[in-house]
Amino acid sequence: MGQVTASAPGKCILFGEHAVVYGEPAVAVAIEQRISVTLALLESSESPWKIDGIHFNARKHPHVQALRNRMWQSSQGAPNLSIQIHGDIPPASGLGSSAALSVAAGAALRCARGRWYSEPGDIQNPETWAEGYAHSLEHAEIYTLDRKEVLAHRLNASPNHYLSGEETVSEDECALLGHAVEAVAQKGRASPMDASTCAHGGVVLLSDQLESDFDFLYTRTLAMDDGERTWHLHSIDLPEASKEVFLVIGNTGVYAPTSQQVAKVASAIKANPERIKEIETIGLIARRGIQHLKNGDYEAVGRAMSENQIMLQGLGVSCPELENLIRAAAPTSLGAKLTGAGGGGCMVALTRNPKQTSEAIELAGGRTLISKFGNSGLSIEKCENMPLWSSERSMPPQ
Ligand code: MEV
Repeated sequence: MGQVTASAPGKCILFGEHAVVYGEPAVAVAIEQRISVTLALLESSESPWKIDGIHFNARKHPHVQALRNRMWQSSQGAPNLSIQIHGDIPPASGLGSSAALSVAAGAALRCARGRWYSEPGDIQNPETWAEGYAHSLEHAEIYTLDRKEVLAHRLNASPNHYLSGEETVSEDECALLGHAVEAVAQKGRASPMDASTCAHGGVVLLSDQLESDFDFLYTRTLAMDDGERTWHLHSIDLPEASKEVFLVIGNTGVYAPTSQQVAKVASAIKANPERIKEIETIGLIARRGIQHLKNGDYEAVGRAMSENQIMLQGLGVSCPELENLIRAAAPTSLGAKLTGAGGGGCMVALTRNPKQTSEAIELAGGRTLISKFGNSGLSIEKCENMPLWSSERSMPPQ
C-alpha cells in the first residue's frame, strides 16, 4: 500500500519576532528537532480522516484542515487519509511546531497527489506547472481567511503531463502553503518567517529590502487589515566559526498560542500608534545583529539578542517564567532572549558551553533542548507507490 513520510525542522528566532509581522528585518535558524508526517489511504473509504488513529477534528488541527481545503478536496473525489504525526518539537512553545507540521504535511500531500504539468522539462520551474502555488505565480486566494474550500490553484496552462512522488515537491510551494495556513491560524497576521525556515532549513533572513550580501530566495506579500506587508527572504551562509556555538532552548512549559500574542501587540499599537517606534527599534537591533552574524562575531550577536529581549519585555510579550530562564542562562551564554511569540513557551541562549548553559536552565526549572546552528530543511523520508490520488486531467483550468 502507498505511503509517504515527510519531515521538517522546527525553528528558533535570533532577532525580530513580532517586529517582522510589521515588515521589519528578522533572522530564524532551523533547529535539530523535527516533525514528521506520514500519509496513507484509509482501508475503508467510508471512514473519516484519522490523525494518530483518532477521528480528525478540524478545530484541533486547523493547519491540516487548511491544507486539506487547498490540496485534497473531497468534493474533487480525494479519498480519506490516515495521518501519523511524530516529532520532538514541543507544541505551542515558539519553536515553529505548527509551521513544521504544515510544511511537512504540504510536502506529503503534494507527493501523494502529484502534479499536472503543461509540459515536461524543468519540473521545479513553476512555468511548467498546470497546478500549484509558487512565489512567481498569482496566489492571492491562497491566503483567504474564510472556511470555504479554496480550490487547488490551477494555472492558465493545459494539463498535459503528470508526475507524482518526491520530484513533484517544491520547497517554495510548501513554504507558501505553510505561510498561508499560518496566516489563517493567526487571523490574517503572520510573517512567512516560520514556514520558510522550516521549508528551506539553514538560517533565513527576512528584510524590508533586497540584501546583496545574502542569497535571495523570494519576495512574499500579504495584505493585512492595516496595510500590505512585503518581505524579501534570503538564506545566510554561515562561516566556519558557527560550528563553535550552540543554541540552548529552555521551555517554560507555559502554554502560549502565537495568535494571542500577535493580537496583543496589534491592539497595543492600535491603542497607541507611537508604539510602532518600539517595533522599529527591534528592526534596528536585528539589522545590527545580521551584520555581526555575517562577520562571525558571535559575542556581538549574543549582545544584540539580549538587547532584543529588553525590547520584547517592553512590548509586553515576555513573562516572569521566561525571564527566570533567561537570567539563569546569562552567566554561561553570549546572549539570551525569548524565541517565538512569547507569553510563555521558550527562550533561547547562544552559547559556547551548551552543557553548562543547559544545566543552569534546568536548575531554574526549564526543560532544555540543544541544537547546533543551521540544520537541514524539508525532507522526504519515504515515498512508496505514489500517487495516492490524482485530480482529473479533464478538469478545465480556472
Ligand atoms: C512566531 O514564531 C513569530 C511571530 O513574529 C509571528 C510571525 O512572524 O508570524 C511572533
